[in-house]
Amino acid sequence: MSRKLIIGNWKMNGSLAANEALARALTTAGLEEKPVDCAVCPPSVYLAQMAGLLQGSSLLLGAQTVHARESGAFTGDVSAAMLAELGCKLVLVGHSERRAGHGESSEQVAAQALAAARAGLTPVVCVGESADDHDAGLMQDVVIAQLAPLAGLEVEAGVLLLEKLVLAYEPIWAIGSGEAATPQYVSVVLECIHEWLAEAAPALAEEALPRVLYGGSVRPDNASEMLSLHACGGLLVGGASLVAEEFIAICSAAAAQV
Ligand code: PGA
Repeated sequence: MSRKLIIGNWKMNGSLAANEALARALTTAGLEEKPVDCAVCPPSVYLAQMAGLLQGSSLLLGAQTVHARESGAFTGDVSAAMLAELGCKLVLVGHSERRAGHGESSEQVAAQALAAARAGLTPVVCVGESADDHDAGLMQDVVIAQLAPLAGLEVEAGVLLLEKLVLAYEPIWAIGSGEAATPQYVSVVLECIHEWLAEAAPALAEEALPRVLYGGSVRPDNASEMLSLHACGGLLVGGASLVAEEFIAICSAAAAQV
């Protein structure tokens, strides 16, 4: 089994002092010796601070959003080149809180992912259904509609965006609720995403297809069963990523799966 990717999404949390303490705990936990890829996504104002604190460690730095354009009159936004210059390796795009709170469409999310990949970042494209769509049994339809604009886009001639990204399936009703989806449920949707990928990029070998993560109320006590799913390439962790021991425990659980 290939290495898992564990991403901490700090959302709008942190402070200079709290970030320093968390970075110290994470960088001294011995994670670099374990077969797992770990990343943290602090608020953009703290990226420069975190880049300094993570220097020399194996922890990857990520951002929580990016604008699709290179520069210009986009007050409050940041470009992919700016993130790359600060040392970011990845960026979340299309998180449900961005789709809902900032009206980002799946087409805009695809454009952001493309801009990120063209700047050398790994876009982590988040998809997932609402509670209503879940109740109506529409999860696969919603997720496939969110993925559709990613198909066919090229980072450069002959290089598909789908080769350069990571996908994260996060059912909205599971985010921050304390109630993760069951592994059985997650497995069905992850398999459906893998099937969509195989159809959207038929020329890609299985190893070249992106990792697909699960997110939504991931904790140390449910991480292992999610990670043991064949289709699960890692986890996107919100609340538990703010607690050093919990995030370290989740990363360690992922290392144990390899
Ligand atoms: P949660 O958040 O782990 O707090 O549910 C996950 C996310 O929104 O990425």
